[in-house]
Amino acid sequence: MIFGASGDLTRRKLVPALYNLARHKLLSPDFAVVGFARRDGTTEGFRQQMREEIPRHCDCVVDPGLWDWLESRMYYVSGDVKEPEALARLATQLSALEREHGTRGNALFYLATPPEQFGPIVHALDQAGLAREEAGRWRRVVVEKPFGRDLPSARALTVELRAALAETQIYRIDHYLGKETVQNLLVFRFSNGIFEPIWNRRYVDHVQITVAETLGVEGRGGYYDSAGALRDMIPNHIFQLISLVALECPISFDANAVRDEQSKVLRAIAPLTEEHVLSRTVRGQYGAGRIGERALPDYRAEPNVAPRSSTETFVAMRLEIDNWRWKDVPFYLRVGKALPRRVTEIVVQFRRPPFALFRGTTVDQLSANRLVINVQPDEGIQLHFGAKIPGAIMKIGTVDMAFQYADHFGTEPATGYERLLYDAFLGDPTLFQRADMVEAGWSVVQPMLDVWQALPARNFPNYAAGSWGPAEADQLLQRDGRRWLTTDGP
Ligand code: BG6
Repeated sequence: MIFGASGDLTRRKLVPALYNLARHKLLSPDFAVVGFARRDGTTEGFRQQMREEIPRHCDCVVDPGLWDWLESRMYYVSGDVKEPEALARLATQLSALEREHGTRGNALFYLATPPEQFGPIVHALDQAGLAREEAGRWRRVVVEKPFGRDLPSARALTVELRAALAETQIYRIDHYLGKETVQNLLVFRFSNGIFEPIWNRRYVDHVQITVAETLGVEGRGGYYDSAGALRDMIPNHIFQLISLVALECPISFDANAVRDEQSKVLRAIAPLTEEHVLSRTVRGQYGAGRIGERALPDYRAEPNVAPRSSTETFVAMRLEIDNWRWKDVPFYLRVGKALPRRVTEIVVQFRRPPFALFRGTTVDQLSANRLVINVQPDEGIQLHFGAKIPGAIMKIGTVDMAFQYADHFGTEPATGYERLLYDAFLGDPTLFQRADMVEAGWSVVQPMLDVWQALPARNFPNYAAGSWGPAEADQLLQRDGRRWLTTDGP
């Protein structure tokens, strides 16, 4: 049952993901889906709208027979969760599904609504008795991001949800965990014998994580201007990446074993003092510029953005993980809108080898090995290493060993939500956030929120759309004798 079914997420991601699951025969024959929203509408209207939208979003040629199968399992109920009659209609619909589709009373409630409705919906489900797991049936709730807008509000939301649900019923979703390459991080690190021994402070110089987007705010000014890049990306998506890069090997694939280790990484991130916020974080806001052929206006000129907004559209920072494995290995993070190229990449830069062997030769410097994990758009892994350039004199060049997902496994149309929905249906929460992880993430960013709120940026806009962010982001690394390794080039 999707709450907020008239919104973007339902037609762009959730229904196409259900269709892709059906293509792979991963939807139960007893499956049915109910869209619920305030907007007036009928089941027939909902089916028709989804039918019109699916070709645009599933990235595939729609098979009419399969679509009919899925469509005949779609229903729509309109209403406001604050009205008991609306909940009664939902309850009636659920009972009808049980009879007609054999759902056995099991239900997954997906909250694809604005965040201020998460608490009221769960409360209403509870009041109507719809959240109760009894007589062998399960009831689960998927909560979209953002989970709170700071540490106190995230804690308050947890309390609100837990008044009606057990933690095991709550599935806090982060779509980054639906990405193949992100899931592959665990496999890459722990199913290969050669990486784990060098995956630590003795061999790793530093780690960089870049999430660059070419888009501006794309009509989401209202939400984005009150959130900003930090809230929008760091405590959720980026911290998922950091936790999987840095975690210790879990004792099993059990959901809590994996999430325990992720949680430990987040809790080991050294807390930032006010002085650290000023010296180790950078914020930016884009001004007018060009990205290829496309001209972007000032962020402040976007619809629903305040004309003197001090909301950041770019963030960079240096964090440290204060544990035995990572002590003194900086993790540099940056995210931003309106950057020159769309890329999500993790770079593990290894230490430079000692130079002794090459003293007295024509080699004047050695470069360090680098492992690059491309999360998107060209999913793959590259290892850069030095090799002798053929010829009579000793010269060393850098070469790449590159693995591209598409070359080896082909590509399958996917929205990124397939795996997450499937796991939620099966009751496997491994790829979902636990309350303690969410709180640990907010704890790290809270000092930044506080300092930035107390000292609104005076120099915005401070980078042009189409550039790699403000100059201070480069200086952040230059001060440590380093540079960002993801650039325009290949
Ligand atoms: C969303 C953010 O969670 O993630 C967006 O709200 C952002 O602002 C998006 O554009 C990025 O996701 P992806 O999968 O395109 O990297």
